[in-house]
Amino acid sequence: MSANSIDEVTLEKVAPLYERVRKVIPEIEWPIHASYVAAINELKKQKNAVILAHNYQTPEIFHCVADITGDSLALAQRAVDTDADVIVLAGVHFMAETAKLLNPGKTVLIPDLGAGCSLAESITAADVRRLREQYPGVPVVTYVNTSAEVKAECDICCTSGNAVAIVESLGSDRVIFLPDEYLAAYVAEQTDVEIITWNGHCEVHERFTAEELESYRSDHEELTIIAHPECPPDVLATADFVGSTAQMQDYVLNQRPKKVLMVTECSMSDNVAAGIDDVEFIRPCNLCPHMKKITLANILASLETLSPAIEIDPAVANRARAAVERMLEVGRSKMTEVAA
Ligand code: 13P
Ligand code: SF4
Repeated sequence: MSANSIDEVTLEKVAPLYERVRKVIPEIEWPIHASYVAAINELKKQKNAVILAHNYQTPEIFHCVADITGDSLALAQRAVDTDADVIVLAGVHFMAETAKLLNPGKTVLIPDLGAGCSLAESITAADVRRLREQYPGVPVVTYVNTSAEVKAECDICCTSGNAVAIVESLGSDRVIFLPDEYLAAYVAEQTDVEIITWNGHCEVHERFTAEELESYRSDHEELTIIAHPECPPDVLATADFVGSTAQMQDYVLNQRPKKVLMVTECSMSDNVAAGIDDVEFIRPCNLCPHMKKITLANILASLETLSPAIEIDPAVANRARAAVERMLEVGRSKMTEVAA
């Protein structure tokens, strides 16, 4: 099937998917998306493929072709369970690497190899080795937003959803926490463990300011502000709730604030707003240029050609996988504790 033209029958077939995004995608734009959506969903079946999409993907990807959606932690957890032969990661490169580490025998595709991350770019494996020399014996936690080479030098990974639990799981009174300075500051506030950090920043979240949020608060009565912990400390101090992208989504779905400002990437609000009517979403938001490199067109091309595929040097992969698996193991034992 060509993605450039769409017949009435195909349009009819994908019409139920439009209902999921009607609130955020104008009707006039849908036929352009619909042809790709139909072609991608057909090809997924033929190739026994699944699409894992991060919460920052645009609504036509997130709601119409993704099989699994979530924050970095959920995508890593769910990547382990799939019995598909092919995983397409609609997100950024480090997320595709994590999926590959957990599924070494599967084909893991990232539709655009240039979908990077300013945090992952901020630190190298050599930097971590130098820090280990500087602080001998201090355990190293790396945010999952890093390359496999960096993960290979660290003891354990974490995401924004489990960072405090991971730091505390180590039983050490001092921890090196890389590379996000602001996430590290947020973790340091929640724990007695001394945190040594790095000066990496997310280019999307560092742009928000406390002043702009205060001015939205004075313009909108009953405004709830929820923020991602990659934001600077003064921004987090103005927020009513801080959490990972999945925790932010759960907050809105469960608390149903009258008006909400989600201090994060723009597609987040679109994806949550698509499914609810009783919450007013106030912007600003900032776009992640890396997340936005993924489109329906390059997802289709990636499935057609089974490329670009993620490959990781096995020597690096074995050590990086251990750091990711240790993180998942902490999550599993926490779940067992809750169940007991
Ligand atoms: P989450 O793990 O909260 O989804 O964050 C990933 C990310 O890249 C945020 O900028
Ligand atoms: Fe990286 Fe920030 Fe983009 Fe997330 S939003 S992928 S942390 S640059």
